[in-house]
Amino acid sequence: MSTLKLAIIIGSVREGRFGPVVANWFAQQVDDRFDVDIIDLADTALPALPAVPPALDPDPVRPADMRDLTDRLAAADAYVIVTPDYNRSYPAALKAAIDWHFTQWDAKAIGFVGYSGGSGGLLAIEHLRQVFNELNAHTVRNYVSFPRYYLLFDEAGRLRDPQEPGAAAAALLDQLHWWTKALVAARSAPIAS
Ligand SMILES: Cc1cc2nc3c(=O)[nH]c(=O)nc-3n(C[C@H](O)[C@H](O)[C@H](O)COP(=O)(O)O)c2cc1C
Repeated sequence: MSTLKLAIIIGSVREGRFGPVVANWFAQQVDDRFDVDIIDLADTALPALPAVPPALDPDPVRPADMRDLTDRLAAADAYVIVTPDYNRSYPAALKAAIDWHFTQWDAKAIGFVGYSGGSGGLLAIEHLRQVFNELNAHTVRNYVSFPRYYLLFDEAGRLRDPQEPGAAAAALLDQLHWWTKALVAARSAPIAS
C-alpha cells in the first residue's frame, strides 16, 4: 500500500490564534506511515452554505477559491483536526468547512488534537464526533488534549515536557493508521449488501 495521506486541519482562524503551534507540533509527531498536508482554514473564505442540503446535492457549486480546500480534503485518506474549545464546542469556521463538504469525509478516519483552558479541547472533540458520525466518518478513540495549553508550551512554542503528549500522539497515530488502512481497503472493494 502506498503512503497514506493525512490532512492536519487547523480549526481556528482568529487573529492571534494558537492553533498553528499545536498543528505544527503534531505534524512533527507523524512518522513515515503518512504524508502530511497541513490545511489552514484561515486560507479559505467560508461563506454562507448553498441552498440545497448535501444529501440532495453532495457536490454543489462552490466558490472558486474553495477549490484548493476541496481538492485537498478529497485527496486525504485520513484527517487530524486540531481544535480549541470555543464556548464548550468547536470554532464556527470549522463547522462551515465541514458543512461545505460531504463525500470528502465519507468512510474516512478522523483523529483529534484539542487545546484550550481547563477542558483541553475535549468538549469540542466530543461535539465533532457527533457531527462526523452523520457524515459516515470514523472517529478514533484516542486523542491528544492540552488543558491550559499556555502552561504547557514555552514562548517559542515548544512543549516544556514533551514526553506524555508525544506518547498520546503516538497512540492516536497507531489507531488512525489501522483505521485508515482498513477504510482505504474497504472503499476500494465495497462490501456487497
Ligand atoms: C469565543 C471563544 C470561546 C472560548 N470558550 C472556551 C471554553 O468554552 N472553554 C475553554 O477552556 N476555553 C475557551 N476559550 C479559550 C480558548 O480555548 C483559547 O483562547 C484558545 O487559545 C483558542 O484557540 P485559538 O487561539 O487557536 O483560537 C474560548 C476562546 C474564545 C475566543
